[in-house]
Amino acid sequence: MVMRHIGITTNSARGFMSNDNWQTPQWLFNSLNEEFNFTVDLCASHYNHKCDRFYSETNSLLTVDPVALRSDICFMNPPYSRNLIKPCIEKAWQIAQNASVVCLLKVDTSTRWWSIFWDYENHMPKHGCKIRFFPKRVKFDPPPNVNGKSGPAFPTCVVIMDRRDKPTLKQTHGVE
Ligand SMILES: C[S@@+](CC[C@H](N)C(=O)[O-])C[C@H]1O[C@@H](n2cnc3c(N)ncnc32)[C@H](O)[C@@H]1O
Repeated sequence: MVMRHIGITTNSARGFMSNDNWQTPQWLFNSLNEEFNFTVDLCASHYNHKCDRFYSETNSLLTVDPVALRSDICFMNPPYSRNLIKPCIEKAWQIAQNASVVCLLKVDTSTRWWSIFWDYENHMPKHGCKIRFFPKRVKFDPPPNVNGKSGPAFPTCVVIMDRRDKPTLKQTHGVE
């Protein structure tokens, strides 16, 4: 009983968050890719990239000029280390000024990074952002060095960022 309790504790969401390499389950990526048709994976490695074009620790997303991804359709499941998660989401928000970025994120409104795309004053996503919630928890696939079939599940959401100015109905159809 005690052992089981210890096991659960060490395998908690905190432990999960300290590992940057948990992978998006293929079924979920396929489903999003069918809808969005991604051109680049913003956070990946040679063994887990979901698109042929990808950024990684050696080709860091954090050093990319956001304008270089103009018109791309980007997928991002970011690393969750404290020093990486917020800069990655900030970069995604910058890229979304000229492109679409679809992020798979933990639902955690208590973090500083959540306010990058959430308007707390008006209680809604910021302009250019939509959020989809899942009815169930998503189980992520473990990195190669971790045993087990799937990671601890926690509430996950899809954050869709696209801050490009869209033509209004008035511009396209003359509708007020
Ligand atoms: C949560 S995993 C996602 C992997 C894969 N894209 C997926 O969805 O299954 C995050 C990945 O980001 C990579 N990463 C770490 N630092 C990065 C950086 N500065 N720029 C881009 N990718 C980075 C990690 O090596 C890891 O492979």
